Amino acid sequence: MNALKLNKFHWHLTDDQGWRIESKLFPALCEKGAYRVEPDGSRHGGFYTQDEIREIVSYADDLGIEVIPEVDLPGHALAILAAYPHLACFPQDFCVPNSWGIFDDILCAGKDEVLDFLSQLLSEIAELFPSEYIHLGGDEAPKARWKACPNCQSRIRDLKLKNEEELQSWLFLKLAQGLAQQGKSVIGWDEILDGRIDKSLIVMVWRGDGKDAASKAAENSNSYILCPNQLCYFDWKASEDSPGAHGISTLANVYSLDPSSYSRPDLCLGAQANLWTEHIHNEAELEAMLLPRAFALAERLWNPNADYQGFLTRLNDLEGYLDTLS
Ligand code: ACM
Ligand code: ZN
Repeated sequence: MNALKLNKFHWHLTDDQGWRIESKLFPALCEKGAYRVEPDGSRHGGFYTQDEIREIVSYADDLGIEVIPEVDLPGHALAILAAYPHLACFPQDFCVPNSWGIFDDILCAGKDEVLDFLSQLLSEIAELFPSEYIHLGGDEAPKARWKACPNCQSRIRDLKLKNEEELQSWLFLKLAQGLAQQGKSVIGWDEILDGRIDKSLIVMVWRGDGKDAASKAAENSNSYILCPNQLCYFDWKASEDSPGAHGISTLANVYSLDPSSYSRPDLCLGAQANLWTEHIHNEAELEAMLLPRAFALAERLWNPNADYQGFLTRLNDLEGYLDTLS
């Protein structure tokens, strides 16, 4: 990242399939939420201790890289529910899943104890990261449970909210207000535009080509960060016959990213690529997904006037240069 002048590391530390941050306040998150049983019966998992996280943050800082943590809420949170089932709308014995997907069981937004839990937990996590930003997810949170949950429904009535999307907006704003006291600004995936978004929130534009979400963010004067999946998802295949999942994003696609072509470029804080690892089995595969597409992203962002043909000739030099570093 340092060689390519990529200066923000968005660290997606939690998901349905595992909780990866040591919490001293809520130890079951790691005792239970950090491990899952694989289809072959083996136990898989692990987590970063707080000391390891501080070491990584400090190492990144030496290289000019700011680490921005993500705690994905209220969906993609089955690892939390496996540890603390009472935080669900309808508690049961939840398992940390060993498959990829979008799951209906999410954190309840109607129970005060969920708010208390999250504000304590997020405050503990925010302390570990000096960045002014913290990402709270917000993506792919189905509302089936909230629609059926008496606690969520009475919260909607009490607050005179229109629907479950507005309930998620309320939850985000409430958490963001708490984190603001620690000097943090909150980022969320572009689903946070679906309800009633507060101007203080930063939108991470990810769906499709990103034009709709960026326009909507711009209409509301929300700052945004670009990572439209059609261009910036490095877990997608780089070509028809290369490894990857979900779609194709070629080197040329990545190079076509043009922040100035989105609404209100003055509100765009930057762009990033996302390398989701659910279909990646080892570091060699990971590197094959990352490179050379990361070169294309870095050059587009730092030198928007450069041309693709020139980039292809520079690519050889860049690869040689990176080899000298490793
Ligand atoms: C996402 O890819 N679910 C943000
Ligand atoms: Zn609920």
